[in-house]
Amino acid sequence: MRKPTVLSVVALTTAALTLAACSTGTATNGGSSSSSSSSSQSAKVGGAGGDVGVFTWWAAGSEKKGLDALEALFKEKYPNDKFINLAVAGGAGSNAKAKLASDLANNQPPGSFQGHAGAELTDYIAKGQIEPVNDVIQELGGESVFPKDLLDRLTVKGNIYSVPSNIHRANVVWANPAVLRKAGASDTPKDMKSWISDLQKVKASGVNTPLSIGGTWTQLQLFETVLISDLGPEKYAGLFDGKTAWDSAEVKQAAADFKTLMTFTNNASDGDDWPAATDMVIDGKAAYNVMGDWAVAEFTDKGKKEQTDYTYFAVPGTDGVFDFLADSFTLPKGAKNPDGTKDWLRLIGSAEGQKAFNLAKGSIPARTDVLPDGFPPYQQSAMKDFKSNTIVSSIAHGAAVSLAWNTDMSTAISKFHANRDEKTLVNDLVAAAKKNLG
Ligand code: BGC
Repeated sequence: MRKPTVLSVVALTTAALTLAACSTGTATNGGSSSSSSSSSQSAKVGGAGGDVGVFTWWAAGSEKKGLDALEALFKEKYPNDKFINLAVAGGAGSNAKAKLASDLANNQPPGSFQGHAGAELTDYIAKGQIEPVNDVIQELGGESVFPKDLLDRLTVKGNIYSVPSNIHRANVVWANPAVLRKAGASDTPKDMKSWISDLQKVKASGVNTPLSIGGTWTQLQLFETVLISDLGPEKYAGLFDGKTAWDSAEVKQAAADFKTLMTFTNNASDGDDWPAATDMVIDGKAAYNVMGDWAVAEFTDKGKKEQTDYTYFAVPGTDGVFDFLADSFTLPKGAKNPDGTKDWLRLIGSAEGQKAFNLAKGSIPARTDVLPDGFPPYQQSAMKDFKSNTIVSSIAHGAAVSLAWNTDMSTAISKFHANRDEKTLVNDLVAAAKKNLG
């Protein structure tokens, strides 16, 4: 993305490491870590056989295309296994997570489920709902192919839980260049203040919804990017380990900026999903949408070309910061066909699987040995940025906060959507942090 700032902080800033904080160590290079995982049988040619139910929220549109790419490859590589698609629709797992929680509580786990690297994964680990997969990670190449910092976020007490399929970036503004030109707005506003002035220009040019949003999780994601902009990456990171107060002047400023941004949006209801919000930019009904880079797959799916039909830039004030999240697949405790599950994990963790999936999904491979060649320009730029930017953890997508904390913040954001009272928002965020940080 524009003018990437050279990394000055460790790749994973401290607060981002909620999960690593619980870890007593990580796997070391290629095969040397101890594994306590059950059944470490290596792959059978053609697969172990039996059903492999895969639970995700990639149920439709471009997300389903990503999953379809994996399914096709899985069938090719493991013809003995039967892929069962257990996807539950609803962006960011807004419906899926509740169904998953009840299935896990009732000892009815799927073969594998999609989770987020970081704090979200600790919930499943703490509840004893997932098994370590050190053997699969080592078989795939361990630290020689997965970034150590990423593995750290999957590791507790030396055990690695889950295999990452991809890395997404959450702090991206997607824009309609024709709408911006007509309004006389700049291509890349440099900070919140200049972005708000551009939003005013867009509104004055006759566009009713300068900034499109979807349901609550998309608003939480928008808010997290405003926090990053107003606090900077280090203070933002401090929000999750108690070093930054949730009622600091900067958080209050972020709440005020968020309130202003929300005056430029459509009035979304709770369940509105992200593709409709992104499509408003495609259709010229909105100038901007803040969305994770799964949006690029939606643009591609609709036949849109970057620079001509859409542009993108980091949320103003966050250039040089990569708001990180990663999807990662688990081996649930009590899964009926663990060897079949491991075939699935081998596939999604392989270079071939990661290339096929990420090309379709808009994300970048978690593996470092998948070359940028052949990826569209946006993804090539994201790969570059991931290496050079300061990395922070997404709130809305499980990297920074636990499921419970996410729920409390979502309630606060939903309340704010109704009452537009930023003081109450800050009070609710303070209470949520107090409850969840302990
Ligand atoms: C997931 C992405 C997905 C997005 C929208 C995020 O939580 O990590 O894979 O595309 O939600 O559904």
